[in-house]
Amino acid sequence: MSGEKNIANIAVAIDGPAASGKSTVAKTLAKKLGLIMVNTGAMYRAVAWATLRDGVNPDDADAVIEMLGKVDFSCGVEDGVSTILVDGFYPGEELRQDAVNNRVSRVAAIPEVRKLLVAKQRDYLKLGSLVMEGRDIGSVVFPDTPFKIYIDASEEVRLARRSAEGLADEVAKRDAEDSKRKASPLVVADGAVVIDSSEMNIDEVVNAAMEVLRERGAPASMLDAVS
Ligand code: DC
Repeated sequence: MSGEKNIANIAVAIDGPAASGKSTVAKTLAKKLGLIMVNTGAMYRAVAWATLRDGVNPDDADAVIEMLGKVDFSCGVEDGVSTILVDGFYPGEELRQDAVNNRVSRVAAIPEVRKLLVAKQRDYLKLGSLVMEGRDIGSVVFPDTPFKIYIDASEEVRLARRSAEGLADEVAKRDAEDSKRKASPLVVADGAVVIDSSEMNIDEVVNAAMEVLRERGAPASMLDAVS
């Protein structure tokens, strides 16, 4: 299933590096517009979490692929936000632990992992219009959507945002791995509007994103739903 076959449902693609604020913006925008919000980072984190649970080496692509055949990753929506269960279990906050941070980019670089998750991501469009955030949403998952936004922020600001959350995420290291990988690297997708959020608050970024949707012809029915 791809974006162009679902003319009725609209995908808003939000990409950007770690801690750029894209999750908060995607959540706020989805709520404002009454759309489903899909966090694709959580899906890659769930695969990384499963490698930890099962003692699978994330650098051994064959072992990770074998694991994919045995583990059930089930995607859904709760209260308008995407959820992922691993063999029926929701890992919750464990998805954001250091051990997951440290290996998620390596797992996400395996093309078979991406193929499985991209198919699940495209399936979400069957459920309704959505805001989906990640690294390759505008470039790979929904390349035909006109609604593509890339949210950036300086490394300094991104590090400060993570530590304000009490997390010591090595964002620069993860970004380097995510940008350099061969399979669907982090890029500014063709036609994406870049918003540098370094000096902006969430409301300002959300308003800038709304402006992009308006300029690019988002249907009035969607924009009118603003709460
Ligand atoms: O958005 P996040 O920090 O939770 O994402 C975790 C990791 O997942 C990120 O370092 C790279 C990977 N990822 C990806 O490769 N493609 C996506 N669409 C989303 C995340």
